[in-house]
Amino acid sequence: MIQQAHDHILVIFGASGDLTERKLIPSIYNLYTKKLLPNKFAILGVSRTEYSDDAYRDKLIASLEKETGKDKSHFQDFLKLIYYQAINTQNSDDYANLRIRLEKLAKTIESSCNYLFYLSTPPSLYEPISRFLKQHGMTESCHEKSWKRIIIEKPFGYDLASAIELNHKIHDYFNEDQIYRIDHYLGKETVQNIMVTRFVNGFFEPLWNRNFIDRVEITAAESLGVEGRGGYYDHSGALRDMIQNHLLQTAAFIAMEPPASLDATSIRNEIMKVFQSIRPYKDSDIETHVIRGQYTESNLQGKVFSAYRNEQGVDPNSKTETYVALKLFIDNWRWGNVPFYIRTGKRLPTRVSEIAIHFKTAPHQIFYTNPEIDKQINQLIIRIQPDEGILFKFGMKVPGAGFMVQPVNMDFKYADLSDVNIPSAYERLILDCMNGDATLYSRGDAVEATWKFLKPVQEAWENNKDMKIFGYPSGTWGPEAANELFNDKNTTWRYPCKNLTNDGQYCEL
Ligand code: BG6
Repeated sequence: MIQQAHDHILVIFGASGDLTERKLIPSIYNLYTKKLLPNKFAILGVSRTEYSDDAYRDKLIASLEKETGKDKSHFQDFLKLIYYQAINTQNSDDYANLRIRLEKLAKTIESSCNYLFYLSTPPSLYEPISRFLKQHGMTESCHEKSWKRIIIEKPFGYDLASAIELNHKIHDYFNEDQIYRIDHYLGKETVQNIMVTRFVNGFFEPLWNRNFIDRVEITAAESLGVEGRGGYYDHSGALRDMIQNHLLQTAAFIAMEPPASLDATSIRNEIMKVFQSIRPYKDSDIETHVIRGQYTESNLQGKVFSAYRNEQGVDPNSKTETYVALKLFIDNWRWGNVPFYIRTGKRLPTRVSEIAIHFKTAPHQIFYTNPEIDKQINQLIIRIQPDEGILFKFGMKVPGAGFMVQPVNMDFKYADLSDVNIPSAYERLILDCMNGDATLYSRGDAVEATWKFLKPVQEAWENNKDMKIFGYPSGTWGPEAANELFNDKNTTWRYPCKNLTNDGQYCEL
């Protein structure tokens, strides 16, 4: 049941940043319009730039208008909940002022000392901010029922060693149950629906295993390039940016066992078991199981898309991957030898995230089909975005004489629900944290487990400078070599759409 959150002050570090303006404030505004914020509530924006409260509020209006597109009549009332404090996050003295400001604010809104800290800052600041909050007494309960929580944005670590170190340090300042590592994919309605679809319907579970499933394919394709984030992305790449977090978490929702109950511990234990069961890569697997690519320049219907290496902030000799396709196995009774294929990339033909469950073909085929038909049946497609929904593709008799088979679709679209209102991922996750529900946040051990799985890949790419990175023209589905991950030569990735439209942003599904 959706609950109104408990009284508190939300402190956003990185308040003048892009994420705060584009995602956080609009999501909190949506919670406000749905009356899900507490009665006693304030937001304190914190960053280096000097603003008065009013100047900061004014700065937020444009993105509120753009992102919520809602009736503006509530904006002013909502903005009154927002305050601002400039601090140098590296300077201990500034935290003394922050504490005074928070105490005053708590009095103003007649709230107790519940604080939720949201770190929407560069990762290098996660440790110092947490440390200074602790040093200045802002992490401890001030009475029995009060709480302090911290949301930490991704990326959580850069590799296994840094993730372990970060966990270790943050645990010096906060207990694990106060730490909320955000992965916005888990806040997506369609990702959560994987669990509901699997576990509320009695008919999926008996088929959901190695006896009936041939392979699982997970795609997160983006048509955009790095869009001004070249400086960050060139030190990250698709493996760190998408695979380690969003896509391995999504795979875990597909692969997990039914949890004993809906509580955070039960669900997160099942997710952890999946990560523990992923077959580790041997060094010799890297080239055969993981394909990386980088987009090159292309001219699409008269529009030139620049090569990744020419993007602002990117090293002209960069070997950072903008595309990754990989094959992994989950060694347990349910999934033994079923390959999971996962791919993600920027500057692909469209923006689509989906999971394709390919069921095995009938053991004895008495009807005539052909490889083209076979490719289009026996599949369950879970569309995460856009066009959220579930598509079941199966074979049916062509009406009339004989027994010709044709592929047909049974398609559920969220948009067809008349009262549909898919909340943004951030809206859901922020509200959960306000209510102390960590179910959809990543646990420290799970984050380390995913880094551990990817460690041999990172090391191989780092140490073996000759290891291939394939160029792919912008607007294509990535390197051809990605199809070599399939054992069977007739199998390819699913191409959810083929036709690129003029602006290069969308294609027909
Ligand atoms: C972010 C990545 O975590 O997820 C971005 O840093 C990526 O590079 C984004 O574009 C994709 O999220 P979504 O919700 O648009 O699929």
